[in-house]
Amino acid sequence: MQITPSILNADFAALGAEVARIPSADWIHVDVMDNHFVPNLTFGPTMVEAISRSTSVPLDAHLMIENADREAPAYVEAGCGSVTFHVEATKAPVRLAREIRAKGARASMALKPATPIEPYEDMLAELDMVLLMTVEPGFGGQKFLDLVLPKIRRARSMMDKHGVETWLQVDGGVSLETIERCAEAGADVFVAGSAVYSADDPDAMVNALRDKAVS
Ligand code: DX5
Ligand code: ZN
Repeated sequence: MQITPSILNADFAALGAEVARIPSADWIHVDVMDNHFVPNLTFGPTMVEAISRSTSVPLDAHLMIENADREAPAYVEAGCGSVTFHVEATKAPVRLAREIRAKGARASMALKPATPIEPYEDMLAELDMVLLMTVEPGFGGQKFLDLVLPKIRRARSMMDKHGVETWLQVDGGVSLETIERCAEAGADVFVAGSAVYSADDPDAMVNALRDKAVS
């Protein structure tokens, strides 16, 4: 069970300090948005590289951008240990996953809430992680979508059936209230943005979320 806090709701004027507040994080989740794939804009590889240099916690990049085939490799070069592209924004997901792995990072593929997992069953072995969005991507602080829970269960049984080591990540509305439902359905990596950064003690919240997920 791993907790990967998203810095989307952190203070962007002080990202180095914000990342330093959560030493217990397993990964730092960096949400890259281009104002095309989603109606919001954050930062690109230069900023991600600066964040990467500021911490020893590995970075988990979530690319909510068009042209992922062309752009994703730059995030491996920027120092990310894991790079997630959206299948809805990728022309050749198998080729891209192989390229990310060949460059030395974990390759991960994200699905929006209404995108089915079934068409990708045979490519699970190409992926180190699958990210199932539990809100529509674009903004922090949205309400967790329970309708994704059956897809989490189906993804977990597919992974078990194929005997793959692929991690199953959830992102969106994950909190002390919703994390147990996700864990019970089979998720093992949990992104939490507002739950962590709106807490008085963000690092204590990271540990509290992990405790809830394993309970
Ligand atoms: C939303 C982002 C998430 C976001 C999660 O599109 O991908 O990573 O930061 O924020 P919360 O945990 O507040 O839903
Ligand atoms: Zn995200």
